[in-house]
Amino acid sequence: MSSLPSSSPDFSSTPEGVPARSPLHAPAPHESGLRHTSGEAIYVDDMPEPRGLLTGHLVTSPHAHARLLRVDATKARALPGVVAVLVAGDIPGHNQVGPVIQDEPLMAEGEVHFVGQTVALVLAEGASIARRAAALVEVEYEPLPALLSVKAAVEAGAFLSEPHVIRRGAPEDALAAAPVRLSGECMTGAQDHFYLETQVTLAVPGEDGSVHLWCSTQHPTEVQTLVAEVLGTGRHQVVVEVPRMGGGFGGKETQAAPFACLAALGARVTGRPVKVWLNRDEDMARTGKRHPFLGRYDAGFDETGRLLALKVELVSDGGWSTDLSRAILDRALFHLDNAYFVPALEFTGRVARTNLPSNTAFRGFGGPQGMFVMEEVLNHAAERLGLDPASVRERNYYRDTPNDLTPYGQAVVGNRLPRLHAELMASSDYARRRAEIEAFNASSRWTKRGIGFQPVKFGISFTTGFLNQAGALVSVFTDGSVQLNHGGTEMGQGLHTKMRAVCAHELGVLPERVRVMHTATDKVPNTSATAASSGSDLNGQAVKQACEVIRERLRPVAARLLKLESPGDMAAIAFSGGQVFHAARPLRTVRFAEVVHAAYLDRVSLSATGYYATPDITYDRSTGRGKPFHYYAFCAAVVELEVSGLTGEHRVRRVDVLQDVGTSLVPSIDRGQVEGGFIQGLGWLTSEEVLFDAKGRLVTHSPDTYKIPAVGDAPEDFRVHLLEHAPQDNTIHGSKAVGEPPFMLALGAVTALRQAIAAFGPPRTPVSLASPATPEAILRAVAAARAAS
Ligand code: MTE
Ligand code: MOS
Repeated sequence: MSSLPSSSPDFSSTPEGVPARSPLHAPAPHESGLRHTSGEAIYVDDMPEPRGLLTGHLVTSPHAHARLLRVDATKARALPGVVAVLVAGDIPGHNQVGPVIQDEPLMAEGEVHFVGQTVALVLAEGASIARRAAALVEVEYEPLPALLSVKAAVEAGAFLSEPHVIRRGAPEDALAAAPVRLSGECMTGAQDHFYLETQVTLAVPGEDGSVHLWCSTQHPTEVQTLVAEVLGTGRHQVVVEVPRMGGGFGGKETQAAPFACLAALGARVTGRPVKVWLNRDEDMARTGKRHPFLGRYDAGFDETGRLLALKVELVSDGGWSTDLSRAILDRALFHLDNAYFVPALEFTGRVARTNLPSNTAFRGFGGPQGMFVMEEVLNHAAERLGLDPASVRERNYYRDTPNDLTPYGQAVVGNRLPRLHAELMASSDYARRRAEIEAFNASSRWTKRGIGFQPVKFGISFTTGFLNQAGALVSVFTDGSVQLNHGGTEMGQGLHTKMRAVCAHELGVLPERVRVMHTATDKVPNTSATAASSGSDLNGQAVKQACEVIRERLRPVAARLLKLESPGDMAAIAFSGGQVFHAARPLRTVRFAEVVHAAYLDRVSLSATGYYATPDITYDRSTGRGKPFHYYAFCAAVVELEVSGLTGEHRVRRVDVLQDVGTSLVPSIDRGQVEGGFIQGLGWLTSEEVLFDAKGRLVTHSPDTYKIPAVGDAPEDFRVHLLEHAPQDNTIHGSKAVGEPPFMLALGAVTALRQAIAAFGPPRTPVSLASPATPEAILRAVAAARAAS
């Protein structure tokens, strides 16, 4: 029975004890990388269209706030090719798609609350008829006053949440006693997700009122739930399948659902397949963005730059409905501290209600906005005290003392910041370059340079505790090939590549033998959104568990085939490289496929589910205390750039990143996440400006007016390194989450910009720089600095 493998397997181990033939911890291309780049990857809109397909097209509000008086679709319905025009009253179940708070009607009833709100759904043969019909729907409105900014909402007392307060010590007394006192106000900008694939769903009606949806969503279970609510049916009648997304970035966590519900509604009413797809302009105008935040701070420092006390008030712009705004505000509050211990503090946050699209999840989920305020405070202090901003940061890091708890009372266990700081300072040559930049600035009149050091600490787990669970389903076939289903969705971040590596590792097969299937609610039910960077942490453990079940079932079969006699031998059976063998006698092997086939003949089940729930996380909102995070991810960056005082433009000259991903599951994927996250952060902070006009209409609704970073905006010299020898306890194979943390490293660009801008004025020029730091904003700041001399 035993056979010699063609080449003897290499059982030398990596430092983490994984046999070298495992795909884990080794670089690999994204499992769809070739398909992405060749155009062969199939997205929802690329799927073969079913017979009888109708286009669903939306009639939307042109007013930011108005009474809805009358909808008359007579003329639209008369147009040949129009099958139906539906309004709120045609919904068989609930007209409600609020994901957390029930404040979001699928179609407007009585009032409209933002420009772009859905009023009616046209179902027609093809897009051009549908568009023409939509223009024929007559809607009468009575305009009402609208709130179009956070400040206007605060003045009007319009809020979507009660204040959330986190407090420690006596910040008022500590502020009064502080030798250096600073206060200020800042505003962060919105950001469009600009996923390459816009919102889309294909809904196909089935028997008995069932419906199958192919949807570009990060949260198939929530789409399933809301479709069932809207249709007034059981969730078992709804299947949601996600082939892949062309990017999500948080924008498809909740906001795919309304369009999916409209497609499902159309399919139910007409009995025909319906596709709802938004073009770029429609998508940008109707979907929510990153929340703009207003931050006000009052800070006390000592002369060495140590932060003694801090009071911060945050108000976010929630838009017209609650969506995820409360959880996003919570995460902003939980990340105000970033990497720094604040002895006495009061952090308050509240969500304002405006008549704008409902703002939503976006990479970092409020974390970037919270950290922005803290980094502004530290830059302000460094400038006032004439200190290197990097040393001010280092002075305030959490240290490994039992007293250095976060504002919400969690210990910063496994704090890698001091190590990251030291290693990156050395490898980036920060001190020498900072001195060089000062010399350059002294001699250069029209261009000035700056360098910023940015540490990041980011909490990993959903702050809504019950969401921290995941499932998987592994099916092994009798030829030894494997289908893997897990609860996470693939949006380009490489989750499927990582899950395939985990599965191949656990079963000891080659990754080519594992096919990751579409995410589907009939394979793995009751899932959480793929979000909070926790996709591989949660699903990885579930995949591992399912594989372990199968592996344990295969052991007795393998023992028989390998003619192992003593019971102790059973535990020593290893699965690696498509072979099964006794670990101490690796030359005598049997193929995985043979074991599986024999198991089948023995009537042993070859499929299993796995499940994981993150242990030990709690948070009590009323006291503002708990342990909301399983662990923290850490990273740091040094950003050097050059500003033109003539045009306000800047070039990023060099970026060094050191990222703690524990023991990376697939290092090449993690590097991609670091590079992409950093550049997306740069976009938020320096070029992407979301503007609405005085009537609440989005002005920047396409790439000609909205500037995401392009190839030329990437750092000229980009050095990304993963922290070495840094396994994490209690995570999937020692790895750490990577999806969001690097986004916030781009805050280092703001520090660098401020240094460059200040250099246009006399020493210790105070800098006031708006966000995003567009060329216009930089030019204004340069002019102010020059005026100071
Ligand atoms: N990377 C790509 N290419 N596309 C995306 O849409 N989304 C980001 C991040 N990286 C995203 C991405 C966001 S917002 C999150 S929360 C994580 O990926 C989600 O995936 P993960 O949990 O598997 O890291
Ligand atoms: Mo990411 S903002 O948690 O989808």
